[in-house]
Amino acid sequence: MAKRIDVSGLTAYYGSHKAIEDISMTVEPRSVTAFIGPSGCGKSTFLRTLNRMHEVTPGGRVEGKVLLDDEDLYGTGIDPVSVRREVGMVFQRPNPFPTMSIFENVAAGLRLNGNYKKSRLNDIVEKSLRGANLWNEVKDRLNKPGSGLSGGQQQRLCIARAIAVEPKVLLMDEPCSALDPISTLAIEDLIGELKERFTIVIVTHNMQQAARVSDRTAFFNLAAVGQPGRLIEIDDTERIFSNPSVQATEDYISGRFG
Ligand SMILES: Nc1ncnc2c1ncn2[C@@H]1O[C@H](COP(=O)(O)OP(=O)(O)O)[C@@H](O)[C@H]1O
Ligand SMILES: [Mg+2]
Repeated sequence: MAKRIDVSGLTAYYGSHKAIEDISMTVEPRSVTAFIGPSGCGKSTFLRTLNRMHEVTPGGRVEGKVLLDDEDLYGTGIDPVSVRREVGMVFQRPNPFPTMSIFENVAAGLRLNGNYKKSRLNDIVEKSLRGANLWNEVKDRLNKPGSGLSGGQQQRLCIARAIAVEPKVLLMDEPCSALDPISTLAIEDLIGELKERFTIVIVTHNMQQAARVSDRTAFFNLAAVGQPGRLIEIDDTERIFSNPSVQATEDYISGRFG
């Protein structure tokens, strides 16, 4: 089957600091891949190389290749803005645009990408809020500020905003780490639904969460402090959590380290 994402020999720097080294992996369409590993091993950095957000950081640059449906995202003539439309991102802290209404938060990305008739915009906003399991909670207050919602609702609003532009891939960097357990379960359920339509890559420090939501799990680690992070192994989630190939993975998931 065609790979949605195909990374080869990816190394990323902040100035002269090499944060991650020589990462290669593939991701299938309509799957959930979880990134786990100790803090500082480069999970967030690697995630941001997948939609060219890494280079927004001063000194941020990469070597290697990231193919999205066989197209090199770092190829000449590729517009990073169009890459970020195809590969959306949800962050750790819900970040709705504070002065915008719920409706405008979801419509924001669409407005950047073209002229939509009001009726079409209404349809897409509703579909996106439904897709994010938020519609029933907000349909009577679409013109109220997004910042008035609870943390869990705000995160689902950010997911609605991200899916409104129909990306191929959704990147999530610890999307539940600021949420209570009930809101966390709501997001986990949502991830299970969204993978029918999108390819999802999620960073999580919560091993149970990785086991619950993902099909594949990638374990990252540092050989030593100051060394670049590396991909230790990637495999079916069930296998990573029952019978990983590498001792360091076993040590990490069983809590002997990290
Ligand atoms: N904006 C930045 N500027 C410089 N170094 C950074 C920046 N962000 C992360 N790093 C460094 O890159 C490495 C990987 O960090 P990060 O990707 O945040 O790891 P993780 O998400 O696994 O905790 C660390 O050594 C970290 O200090
Ligand atoms: Mg991180």
